[in-house]
Amino acid sequence: MKMRPYEHPEALYPYHDWSLLEDSYQDENNQRSESVFALGNGYIGMRGNFEEGYHGTSGTSVTGNYLNGFYDSEPIVYPEGAYGYPLRNQAMLNVTNAQIMELIINGHTFHMNTGKVHRYKRELDMKGGILHRMVEWESPAGHLVLIRIQRMVALQHKHLAAIHYEVTALNFEGTVVITSVMDGEVIRSEATDDPRLGGGNTEPNLLIEDVQHSESLAWMKQRTRYTNFVLATAMSHTLHSLSESRVTKKLDGERISVQFALPVLQGEKVALTKYISYHTSKDYDESELMNRASDVLQMAEGKGFEELAREQQVFLEKFWRHADVEIGGDPALQQGIRFNAFQLLQSVGRDGVTNIGAKGLTGEGYEGHYFWDTEMYILPFFTYTQPEIGRALLEFRYNTLDKARERAAVMSQKGALYPWRTIDGEENSAFFPAGTAQAHINADIAYGIKQYVQATGDDEFLVTKGAEILFETSRFWADLGHFNPTRGGAFCIDAVTGPDEYTAIVNNNAYTNLMVQDQLRYSYETAGFLREQYPEHYQRLALEIGLTEEEIKGWLHAADHMFVPFDDELGIYAQDDTFLSKQKWDFDNTPADQYPLLLNFHPLVIYRHQVLKQADLVMALFLLGEQFPLEDKIRNYNYYEPLTTHDSSLSPCIHSIVSAEIGDLEGAYSYFDRTVRMDLDDINRNAKDGLHTAAMSGSWMSIVNGFGGMRLYDGMLCFSPTLPSQWQSYRFKIVNKGQLLDIFVTREGVEYTLLEGSELEIRHKGHKLTLSPQTSIKVPAEVILGRAAPQ
Ligand code: BGC
Repeated sequence: MKMRPYEHPEALYPYHDWSLLEDSYQDENNQRSESVFALGNGYIGMRGNFEEGYHGTSGTSVTGNYLNGFYDSEPIVYPEGAYGYPLRNQAMLNVTNAQIMELIINGHTFHMNTGKVHRYKRELDMKGGILHRMVEWESPAGHLVLIRIQRMVALQHKHLAAIHYEVTALNFEGTVVITSVMDGEVIRSEATDDPRLGGGNTEPNLLIEDVQHSESLAWMKQRTRYTNFVLATAMSHTLHSLSESRVTKKLDGERISVQFALPVLQGEKVALTKYISYHTSKDYDESELMNRASDVLQMAEGKGFEELAREQQVFLEKFWRHADVEIGGDPALQQGIRFNAFQLLQSVGRDGVTNIGAKGLTGEGYEGHYFWDTEMYILPFFTYTQPEIGRALLEFRYNTLDKARERAAVMSQKGALYPWRTIDGEENSAFFPAGTAQAHINADIAYGIKQYVQATGDDEFLVTKGAEILFETSRFWADLGHFNPTRGGAFCIDAVTGPDEYTAIVNNNAYTNLMVQDQLRYSYETAGFLREQYPEHYQRLALEIGLTEEEIKGWLHAADHMFVPFDDELGIYAQDDTFLSKQKWDFDNTPADQYPLLLNFHPLVIYRHQVLKQADLVMALFLLGEQFPLEDKIRNYNYYEPLTTHDSSLSPCIHSIVSAEIGDLEGAYSYFDRTVRMDLDDINRNAKDGLHTAAMSGSWMSIVNGFGGMRLYDGMLCFSPTLPSQWQSYRFKIVNKGQLLDIFVTREGVEYTLLEGSELEIRHKGHKLTLSPQTSIKVPAEVILGRAAPQ
């Protein structure tokens, strides 16, 4: 039995190394394009909507403007509730739309689907961080204009976005009217039965309180219906025109517009720069919002668009110095990997109080919620390329630890249980079998902390924040599990769901038990480390949370007696206590249009079968790789891989990594291909709802951990590079304890260069290499081609 073969779809966007390009406009692809052309700075997210809107075809667009962590919270209605179900939902809000700029040429309104488009190009420049659009348009009256629009969400100014709008009159003289609008009436998407989309509700969530427009700026104050947060949206303009303009300001319900009527001569260009700012009472006192908005807009006007664009480029140069991955000989994948890194940066919260949603800031899928995706998929990319962002992601967990403690109490457990999905730390999952039951998120966070601390050497984080998370979540595990006499006294964890959401509420999910074992050992070691190295901190923390030596020893005891289900006959780990005794899914008789299964079968039908949505045990083989010999990995992989549908976008990258490790480079390549262009080629056919951030980061892992074979064993970087036959070379960089390492793999061999730092010891296929600054160590090709396992 084998899953349906995967065939790569046709390219939707042409391949360019540093940009994403579109040279024609089609209504039917628009929602997808709005996601991939989205801009963001980790706080503000703007979908790639056209400034002028969509004449008569509004159904083909989802207008989206989002602020990371800004949500409303509606009651969740359960026809049949039960104790401990989350009572309120949190949903990232689609906020006031300030992207709008309408254009009228001698009385005719510009739209992509009226008049005639002679030339069109849209380009997302990933080096400059600017979205460009060029349209040569002829109005129904024959007036020809060249429109150039540049848009940015400022990476270095959290609250700022800007649009630079230029119009050249090509064959006429007359009047160009540009109307800049801010619209507070936001229409929400409709409810569907796709669980990946979320609620949908027609009630407005933003209620208007105040609108003002002065000489210099226009602003709107709104309050969220349930959470009582205040949002202040403001805009200001700089006009670039030689002749006198007529400016009219209008307020129409929740729509503020500022209209500029500009006389033009033939061949003349006029331009308008619009600055937009968003501030909320989540960050500042309500009374400060107006002044802050005004300060940001004044600062922006002072700099001007060009200077802001220069700053944007400088910011990105720094980012790419660490984050860039080069793939020689494969332009499609080259574009994909850069696009993914760029979009991750655009969506990631960097302030320690926000995080990164499953769809980033690019759409409303999964309601802007943060999941385990952060620690298991996205954190590694940041830990090894921008460690300060990695730390901020973990600080979010520290900042929400109290809510995790409350949740554990609701679940009748000690310690802390992190929410499966959340925005501000409260559990938001209304479907507990694939929600709260996924307690493995606690161990995932612990794993993220361990990896971050070992890779960066940031003991300060561990001592002041990480340890408390580790101890409280370990306490949870010690209380949740039990020493089971029917299993010879082994430590068992019952009624949980592992990563694979096609199997729910099981006893002893192997992934969970293995990860908990690792966490309990690490927590035990961390307690020892603190006790010895930071005794004051340790005592204070122990007193604060009532931690005893006995309790700490108990963690080690539970870890040493952890039950991990194993099937002697098959020689593999069982996904859980009952998985292997179920019927296998009938893949041969499941037509392609019945995938994803979750949209076509009741959960119980799926749960009754051996069928996986995503990597589960296979993921543990990667994360805890040093525990398993290669033959075990091969045997387990060969059993689980054919049963996996990859209905979750989180799955192919993990399969790519493990395939590379077990020597199946073709498989690794094919899974990588499926991950790295997931959104650019719309492989799961839902890019319109937002991009898949975990898969994007997973594609980076597929290169670094998969083909590069990188592992962090006992705090040391180990590599075991292989090169797929389709490529000439690849190169990536790793930040390790403040040092910057460059890894370049070619047909001739692998070259390790320490670009920054004083000395770094690494392992190449088990051999120790000591790197000195600015010198390369080359390892010849015969050592890198062919089968290899990291050692
Ligand atoms: C996956 C989860 C994931 C969630 C958000 C689901 O489809 O099964 O593992 O956390 O999507 O990305």
